[in-house]
Amino acid sequence: MSVRTLSLKALLFLGLCQVGRRGLASAPDLREPPKKIAIVGAGIGGTAAAYFLRQEFGPGVKIDVYEADTVGGRLATENIEGRDYETGGSIIHPLNLHMKHFVDRLGLSVRADVPSKMAIFDGKELMFEESDWFIVNFLRMLWRYGFNALRMHMWVEGILDKFMRIYQYQQFSYSFSSADRLVHAMGGDEFLALLNKTLEEAMLAHGFSQTFINEIVTPISRVNYGQSVRLHAFAGSVSLAGADSGLWSVDGGNKRVCSGLLYHSKAELIAARVTNIALKTRPSKSGTITNFYEVNYVGDSGPAHSLYDIVVLATPLHQGLSDIAFSGFSPSLPSHFPGRYHQTVSTLVLGRLNVSYLDTKRKPSEFLVSDVFTTDNEKLGISSVSSLDPVHITHGYSRPLAHQTAVWKVFSPEPLTEEQLKTLFISQEHVVEKRWLAYPSYRAPERRPPPFILHHNLYYLSPIEWVASAMEMSALSARNIALLAYHRWHGHTAKVDQEGLHARLRGEL
Ligand SMILES: Cc1cc2nc3c(=O)[nH]c(=O)nc-3n(C[C@H](O)[C@H](O)[C@H](O)COP(=O)(O)OP(=O)(O)OC[C@H]3O[C@@H](n4cnc5c(N)ncnc54)[C@H](O)[C@@H]3O)c2cc1C
Ligand SMILES: *[C@@H]1O[C@H](CO)[C@@H](O)[C@H](O)[C@H]1NC(C)=O
Ligand SMILES: *[C@@H]1O[C@H](CO)[C@@H](O)[C@H](O)[C@H]1NC(C)=O
Repeated sequence: MSVRTLSLKALLFLGLCQVGRRGLASAPDLREPPKKIAIVGAGIGGTAAAYFLRQEFGPGVKIDVYEADTVGGRLATENIEGRDYETGGSIIHPLNLHMKHFVDRLGLSVRADVPSKMAIFDGKELMFEESDWFIVNFLRMLWRYGFNALRMHMWVEGILDKFMRIYQYQQFSYSFSSADRLVHAMGGDEFLALLNKTLEEAMLAHGFSQTFINEIVTPISRVNYGQSVRLHAFAGSVSLAGADSGLWSVDGGNKRVCSGLLYHSKAELIAARVTNIALKTRPSKSGTITNFYEVNYVGDSGPAHSLYDIVVLATPLHQGLSDIAFSGFSPSLPSHFPGRYHQTVSTLVLGRLNVSYLDTKRKPSEFLVSDVFTTDNEKLGISSVSSLDPVHITHGYSRPLAHQTAVWKVFSPEPLTEEQLKTLFISQEHVVEKRWLAYPSYRAPERRPPPFILHHNLYYLSPIEWVASAMEMSALSARNIALLAYHRWHGHTAKVDQEGLHARLRGEL
């Protein structure tokens, strides 16, 4: 991604911010605003939903956010010898405009950059290694893969260009009732078709070589989604964007965005596990029936419940992730939707890397690689090994070299055995293991994601993850849900599921 495109797009976005949503509002709102909104889950999705719902509905509505575990969800850190390290979601793309906006708005900053160097390991040797010099990398890539690397860059940029349209739609207050419709609004049938084929099929059809796919594309999809190039091409291209330059993270830890958004939205955090959501109806004076949602939860002081006008579920309703029962709905709602989440174990090791495992010929003091990605080799048992920098880079920090004691992060589908750890590391002073049900286990064709609307005013944010899982995806789904909830509450049907937005809004710029 060139700096020029980036600044142009960023400017465009900022310019749109100035227009302001309210300025564009049409008819006055006749209906009374909602009094109470509940959000289940305080990850980036739930906290961004609190922020955007506050923006839409104004200061009058009470917003409660339920969290069973810790604020941040899959954005989490672990402390090793006085420093914090990301164990979950860590990198953010330079064109993730919602994440950028949050960081600016909340007065947070971007973590200082520490240069890194990537290599690819096939179980026997490092088959590719980055150099410090751009031109050397370029020539090495050209030598081995012809123009595949350059073309991949252009292919991903083409997809990203269409993806960026969502920011314009949202700035003009448009919303979508399903992930399918949202994807279609960005890139039409061509985008929907990306959900129907594997990344491998899509790239072969575009003329990429099988060698390039095996040696470069597979390692990238393994480190980002723990899966091979058999994932669908939409998630696949998002993972390839994760190999762009200019990636960043939040100084002090990405989860600070979540606590910041909670604070900024003046939402109340309720430390409790939601167990059941029951539909309650009440006749109003005018004779119509009003729906309420009774949120049942278990906190420190035992079970309790509370009534809401609107509820947003911001946690995946899948096996092992959240167990919420629904009662009183007709047709009934399932606790779990089909499809499972992929396990990625994140193991942080303070110790010395066994360099000879990766490269028998090299002296440890000459091993300067910071990120080792892997090819699709069943026997390997790991997806990646990366040198990890703390969430805050102090002045004068330099990353320890491979022959020194450093913090490494290993991604693997199963917990590492003692034996695996002993092969990978010469010394282990401290080991922390975090098991995640990390992101969907993608397939192609992908099954249709669940709807965003589960009932009149009961919304579900996480289906977007079946398109692709990333902080920005949850954030843009949060914005979409807030707009959807607002427009549906006030009956602004013209702001929901509009076709041909791209062509229509082109003239607006
Ligand atoms: C190892 C790993 C690496 C990743 N790398 C990246 C990356 O580099 N870049 C990137 O953009 N993304 C990355 N991701 C993906 C990213 O972290 C997620 O897409 C994102 O954090 C999801 O946020 P969310 O708020 O939608 O869900 P979650 O963060 O899962 O939030 C849901 C919350 O709901 C709570 N909850 C669940 N059930 C209940 C209940 N019944 N009652 C109350 N609360 C409940 C949970 O405790 C949780 O806090 C990675 C993820 C993992 C695991
Ligand atoms: C994707 O595949 C499904 C069947 O699996 C089909 O119904 C749908 O039309 C396909 N969509 C596109 C855009 O090709
Ligand atoms: C390091 O890796 C090599 C090569 O796989 C292996 O033979 C050795 O046992 C490992 N451990 C140590 C401590 O060197």
